[in-house]
This record gives sequence, structure tokens and C-alpha cells, in this order.
Amino acid sequence: MLPVVLVMSLCHAFGQTKSADAKMNAFVSGLMGKMTLDEKIGQLNLVTGGAPTTGSVVNKGIEQKIKGGDIGGMFGIWGADKVKAVQDIAVKNSRLHIPLIFGLDVIHGHETVFPIPLGISATWDMALVQESAKIAAKEATAEGLNWVFSPMVDIARDPRWGRISEGSGEDAWYGSQVARAIVKGYQGTSMKNADAVMACVKHFALYGGAEAGREYNTVDMSPIKMYQDYLPPYKAAVDAGAGSFMSSFNTINGVPATGNQWLLTDLLRKQWGFKGFVVSDYTAVNELTNHGLGDLQTVSAIALKAGLDMDMVGEGFLTTIKKSLKQGTVTQQEIDQACRRVLEAKYKLGLFDNPYKSTDPAREKADVLTDDNRKFSRRIAEHSFVLLKNQTQTLPLKKSGTIALIGPLADNHSEMLGTWVVAGNPNKSVSVREGIKNVVGSDVNILYARGSNITDDSLLNERSYFFGMKQGKDGRPAQEMIDEAVETAKKADVVVAVVGESANMSGESSSRSDINIPETQRDLLKALAKTGKPLVIVLFNGRPLTLPWEDAHASAILDVWAPGTEAGNAVADVLFGNYNPAGKITATFPRSVGQIPIYYNHKNTGRPFDGKGPAKFKSDYIDISNDPLYPFGYGLSYTTFNYSGVKLDKTMLKGNEALKATVTITNTGKYAGEEVVQLYIGQPVASISRSVKELKDFRKIMLKPGESKEVTFDITTKDLKFYNTKLVYDWEPGEFIVEIGTNSSDTHTASVRWNK
Ligand code: NOJ
Repeated sequence: MLPVVLVMSLCHAFGQTKSADAKMNAFVSGLMGKMTLDEKIGQLNLVTGGAPTTGSVVNKGIEQKIKGGDIGGMFGIWGADKVKAVQDIAVKNSRLHIPLIFGLDVIHGHETVFPIPLGISATWDMALVQESAKIAAKEATAEGLNWVFSPMVDIARDPRWGRISEGSGEDAWYGSQVARAIVKGYQGTSMKNADAVMACVKHFALYGGAEAGREYNTVDMSPIKMYQDYLPPYKAAVDAGAGSFMSSFNTINGVPATGNQWLLTDLLRKQWGFKGFVVSDYTAVNELTNHGLGDLQTVSAIALKAGLDMDMVGEGFLTTIKKSLKQGTVTQQEIDQACRRVLEAKYKLGLFDNPYKSTDPAREKADVLTDDNRKFSRRIAEHSFVLLKNQTQTLPLKKSGTIALIGPLADNHSEMLGTWVVAGNPNKSVSVREGIKNVVGSDVNILYARGSNITDDSLLNERSYFFGMKQGKDGRPAQEMIDEAVETAKKADVVVAVVGESANMSGESSSRSDINIPETQRDLLKALAKTGKPLVIVLFNGRPLTLPWEDAHASAILDVWAPGTEAGNAVADVLFGNYNPAGKITATFPRSVGQIPIYYNHKNTGRPFDGKGPAKFKSDYIDISNDPLYPFGYGLSYTTFNYSGVKLDKTMLKGNEALKATVTITNTGKYAGEEVVQLYIGQPVASISRSVKELKDFRKIMLKPGESKEVTFDITTKDLKFYNTKLVYDWEPGEFIVEIGTNSSDTHTASVRWNK
């Protein structure tokens, strides 16, 4: 039974929410009572102020439309003065003075840029993840914004898809933890707070399941897979109180998400209880026409009826919904409902109390790109790096001797911030060359040669540089640059090659069929390897790459993703051992694109191949192993950790009993370091074929050299649940394999019987 005080305070809190809701309802109803039909439809219209344009349409006549009540929100502008000027038009010159909501793609930081989200997810540190969103919100609100188009929680298991960089990888449980942390970081304790923004969870839904990893492509997925492996992070974001959602571009089992009533209404609102509003992606309503659902008027009506509330850029709602109402294909109630949801969002943000809450120029000066924010950026970047290989302790480097710093990304600012950076200024970033100088000063002799361009492939170059960006190519012949790099390498004790993908080789509309390091850089690496000098690769990447050659030939590989504003300082800290890397990958690295999709929690087949014995007539390839190059959860440290076996406090359980699983981890190396201890559970026999194992928990611990710590996981029946054929989420009795380890492939196991 709950204590009386708790019951009273719960009732009080519930009562408070109820009365707050009643106040909001009364306010919004009062306002809607004064609104014309056109003004209501106007609230459903989201326009872009220009940056970035991720489609072929840009809005025109914005000022007139704001005055006429034809616009509910705007994105693509920021800056306290700029936003204030536009808000002025709405608040002073429109009939009902309804404030606009101002959004932006604030994806991994705002002016201070943090690592790309896939990198952030590799920290396995939810406090850092949440803090990164909180800082981004503080900077964004200092520059006029109320609403951010983030988090992107799409599960992705196909690294050809460029947008894998924007999410948290392949695992639904882990993705849910990240989704929750980001929503909390953005929205804080109340969206009315001056430094809080409304989150916009995207892209609803299953966008990461695009066939062949090709951008915007079809998604066809079984219901069990959806519920079990792809939908949980969206649901976690709803449960965390996310204020808005963005519908995705893709179809789902034949019905486009943006016009999908099951998705936007039955699942999101009726099953999950989402109370906020849903905006379309950029011209996604108009694109329903290309999906084959009809002309603009027809598809706009379909989207509204499906549960879409706001139309991004395409103005299908603005230009056709009135006509559809007259013709009876939409109802007044549907328009009112969408309008109410948009107005409620503005109310929850406190915009009716103060439309200018984010337009204080003093805050813009004080809160943006501060030393503290930069310090945090450096810290989260260090925590995001993943040590993929470290043969014979090549890393950390000594703070003496001569280093050959080579590669097209070594002395570069423009690629440090990664994809989806709208407000961040690459010129404010720290290059790797500068970072090394900052960290080791003149103790180390640094020789530099560029060695190659990022790519010499003209198509890849053209497609990965847009919005006026240029690669800044070195015009010398490739061989001449390689020769210079080799001569430089010969004079050094160790070679540090800073190579990989440019910022926009991943991200939206940057799918790749070949996920190697671009060829011209590969040629450089091959020549450097031939010198026989220890070769350290500092790898920039927006996705898992295929690295078998690099793994076989480099002495060490440090994956730094795209680290953000403090890139160079963070890279140098880790290279020279000021911070011992502890990141773990959240998306499997395949050996070859032919293995894709590849993920750790696959099913067993009827003919599983365990890597031993004859392979004929087993589920495998005849030309490559089934194993990935680096499995989910993998990442090394400068030190080593030893795991004891798994101790269970019971081997037989019943009903709602709880289980404790304990391991002891010992730091057996020379450096203090963090380890992410991962818990997986598998159920070999159930009413459906289950994944071989699923991540259920993790703990990040710090150990000094020689130190041991016990880690205990509490396991309850909640951790055993799965979606059955009726899509009921429940657990079934049977045997469970508890696995604890350093990554998804390297675990210690124990088995337990759990009866109902
Ligand atoms: C298209 C992208 O898919 C989405 O993520 C983004 O938020 C919008 N454009 C707005 O820029």
C-alpha cells in the first residue's frame, strides 16, 4: 500500500495537472472561439525562412501570410533580433496576435557542436546525453528558438543509409534510453522555462528501415519486428513527455507514414497516449502524390484525417483544406483538433504569456558558445570515441619524439562538425593539427603532409558537397601527394593518419553503396603501411564503414565520428592518453556491404552456422564469415578488463520474483579506465522465434589499475517480455540465458529457469 503522504502528494500533483489542463483548454477554446476558419487553417502551416532547404520548395510571401494569419510557425531562422522581428509581425500585425512557434534543426548541439548523434550514442552515458540536449536547448533559446527537430530515434541496421549518423544505432532498448535522455534534456522540468525547448521526435516511423539503405525508400516490415525492434524508442519519447512528433517520408507496408491513420492516430495517440502535435517532414504531404495517393487536395485531406496537424513547407493544408471542408472530405472537427494541438503547444511553451521569451539579446551574448559549453563539447567528444584496434599498445602516444601527421582531415576545420549542422560555424572548430599543438606544445615534433584529397571520385565529390560547400581540393596529382606523405612518414617514429568520410558523406540524402574509406585515401594508407612505421588511423565517419584492410594493416584505429567544435582538442587528449577511451559502437561494423543488414540481435535460422564444422547446407556465405568485423557494443580501452563468470542468486524463479546477476570486473592493465558492462538476455524456446539475445541493461564503471568491482543487475519479468503473434507484450516461462560482457559477442553466460 502507498503511504498516505505519497497518495496525497500524487493526488495533489494529479489535481494540479488536471487544473493546468483545464486552464489550457479554457484558454485555447476561448481563442479558437474568435478564430475564423482561415485563421485555424493558418495555424497548421509551417514555413521555412530559408536555412536549410532540404527539398525543392521554399516559401514565398511570408510577411503577408503572417499578417493574414496564414502561418502557425516558422523554421530556418535563428538569432534573437531576427526572430523578434518576425514574431513582431505576428504579435503586432495579425488580427488575433497569435505568436509563431520557431523551430530549427538543432541536432547535435546548436552553435557549440557536439559529436554526431551516432557518436553521442557511443558514450553509453545518459547523463552526458541529457546534458548535451540541455546545453543545446539553452543555446537555441538564447537565439530565438522554441522548438528543435530532434531527437532522431530511427533504428538503423543498414549503414548504407546516410542518416544512420543521426540516430543511436541498431538497438531498440538502447535507443529508448537515448530518446528519453534527449527529450528530458531539451524540455527540462517545464517547457515554459526560458532555457527549454519542445522536442520533435522524428521520423515517425521506421524511416531507418528503408530498403537497400536508399534514402526515402520503401519500408515493409512485419508487425512483430516493428513493435519489438523499431517502435520502442518513439514510444519511450512519448513516455518522456515529448511535445511533438514529425512524420516520416517513407511508406509503411504500403501506406505512407504522413497519411497513415493507423500510425498517427491509432498507434501514437490511442495506444500510446501521445498528447502533442504531429508535423510532417519537409513537403511530405505533397509527396503523398508521388506515393500514388492522389492530387494535392486529396492527399492533404488524407494527411489531416490520418492525424497530421501541421504541414511543413508544402502548403497543401493552407491551399486546399477549406475546399475539402466544403466538399465534405474533411470535417470541421478535424481542422479544429489539429489547430487546438498546435495552439496547445504554444501554450505549453508559454508563448502566449511571453511571445518573446527566446529573444533576449543579452542571453544571446552570454549563453552561446561559452567556454563551459566548449569544455563540455570536448568532454562528450572524448567519451564518444571508440578504440577499434590497439595492437601492442601503440596508443596512447608518447609525448615526445616525432609524429607524422598525415591525411586530408588532419588540418581541416570544415569537416569537424559532421552532418546536420545548421548554426555551428566550422571556423570556430579546432582542427586535429591545432588540437595536437594545444595538448603537447613543442614536446613532440609534428611533421605534416596532406597525403590525399578526401575523394577524387567526381560523383562522390559532387554529391557530398552541397549548400555551397566545397572540398577544398589540393590540385596536385594523387601520387605526388602520396610520395610526399611517405617521405614525411619515414622521418617519424609513428604515423597518425586522419582519414575517413567528409561531413556530408553521411546524413540526409547521402546513402552509399560502398562504405569503404574513399579510394584515394585508401591508396594513401596502403603506401603509409608499406613504410613499416606504426600506423595509427584516426577515423572520421558518419556510419559504420567496412574496414577489414585497415583492421589488418593499421597498428591502431581510433573512431572519432565527427567530433564537433572541440574536435582536435578531444582527439589529441585521447591520442596522448589524457583521457582513456571507453566508447562502444551502437551499430555493427560489417566486413562487407554484402552482409547488410547485420545486427547482433538476429534470429537463429533453422540451420544456424556456428563457425565450426562443415558449413555446407548451413546459413552462411561461401565467400565470407557471418561475423561482423566489430560487433555491437564493441570498443577497447588503453587498459584491459577481466570478467569473472556470471553469478546468479537463484537458478529457478517463479512469477514476479526478481533475479540478481553479478559479475566482478578487474582492471588488469596499466591505466585507469571506464568499462561499459553489458547485460543481454536470450530465451532459446518460446512461442515465437526470438532474437538470439537482447540488450537489457548496462553499467559504465571506472576502475583504477588492479581494482575490481562487482556489478549486479536486477532482472525482473519486465526484462523477459516480448511481442507475441497477437502483439501482446508479455513474458513466457522457460529457460533464459543471462549474458554479461564487454560487447554483444564477448560475454559470460549463466542459465536460469523462470516459471509463471
Ligand atoms: C528534412 C529532414 O528529413 C528532417 O529531419 C528535417 O528536420 C527537416 N527536413 C527540416 O529541415
